[in-house]
Amino acid sequence: MTIRTLDDLLAEGVSGRRVLVRADLNVPLDKQTGQITDDGRIRAVLPTLGALVQGGAKVVVCSHLGRPKGAPDPQYSLRPVAGRLGELLGAPVHFATDTVGDSARSTVEALADGQVALLENLRFNKGETSKDDAERGAFADQLAGFGEAYVDDAFGAVHRRHASVYDVPARLPHVAGRLVLREVEVLGRLTGEPERPYVVILGGSKVSDKLAVIEALLPKVDRLLIGGGMCFTFLKAQGHEVGTSLLEEEMVETCRNLLERSEGKIMLPVDVVAADAFAPDAAHDTVRADGIPSHRLGLDIGPETVAGFAAALSGAKTVFWNGPMGVFEMPAFANGTRGVAEAITKTDAFTVVGGGDSAAAVRALGLDESSFGHISTGGGASLEYLEGKTLPGIAALED
Ligand code: 3PG
Ligand code: MG
Repeated sequence: MTIRTLDDLLAEGVSGRRVLVRADLNVPLDKQTGQITDDGRIRAVLPTLGALVQGGAKVVVCSHLGRPKGAPDPQYSLRPVAGRLGELLGAPVHFATDTVGDSARSTVEALADGQVALLENLRFNKGETSKDDAERGAFADQLAGFGEAYVDDAFGAVHRRHASVYDVPARLPHVAGRLVLREVEVLGRLTGEPERPYVVILGGSKVSDKLAVIEALLPKVDRLLIGGGMCFTFLKAQGHEVGTSLLEEEMVETCRNLLERSEGKIMLPVDVVAADAFAPDAAHDTVRADGIPSHRLGLDIGPETVAGFAAALSGAKTVFWNGPMGVFEMPAFANGTRGVAEAITKTDAFTVVGGGDSAAAVRALGLDESSFGHISTGGGASLEYLEGKTLPGIAALED
């Protein structure tokens, strides 16, 4: 099984050729202002786009943003992304106000060599995410009409069996872009024979989202540190009361079972920051993890937990981190995430940050991105990769 790469395509020559690039420009937007709050995913695709521009291709970029329901929805327009992409590329990006309609056709036709167009949100079209092969296929036919070759650089979306990810590559000569290659190479190091000790830190709100990856990782890791909203379901499974903290009641039994089977590898918080309300200015205190008051909810891991996690990380040779340790968007509840992130950077391990939220946390907290080995652009995609699942978008690139 081989995957052709962007370099193979560039070697053939792309000058004057229309190249369709699937990117993951699904960036977080400020709800009030509509401004891009983290442009990491836009920057991540620049190496691929830059190489195609240099090669003189007519570059047609497509992406999803958010989860609109198969029809245009202005709050999910990619227009602001076109502006930011243009700034970063140092050349205007021609924006089509639809995905495969008149605007897209005329925008693509007007492209000169070395110019870039961005189509409007793929998910404004029912065909993109349809479960019906024919409906997806019809949309993929239209998209494929915009390129003579297809580059997949949307690592964050390779776990989706969507038209632009799965069906278009069946219709055009296809290659993996630089970002997809780098992600697969790095995550491959984690699924192969990672250097030990191998420590994984998981956070985020739901156990149910992480269950499959916990199951897959438990036999492989030396330590599994759990923080974030999901730790409360584990604490409950240990028999502790968790007040009004986030709790997945139906997962308690599963967590109990995981703890029993984990041979002591799972480490849970010993203290948490418990607040009166889910609000930036809520009254809060650090309490023992087995003493959360009934009217309070845990919004971060406490300092003793951070110290314990840091100690567990200190000798690690491989580290994977997914999911914030607390509500890092609120400064009062950001210390856990910051502390763990800093502890990761202090190891001499090969360190990988996976997941849109943890990557955004690294940048929002002003941490130096270059002190991590790799910051993945994939949330669900990186987890499914580590679960060992076949990712539709990767499978579609194989020949
Ligand atoms: C992500 O944010 O994880 C990717 O862009 C995929 O988005 P989705 O979960 O809406 O498919
Ligand atoms: Mg997501």
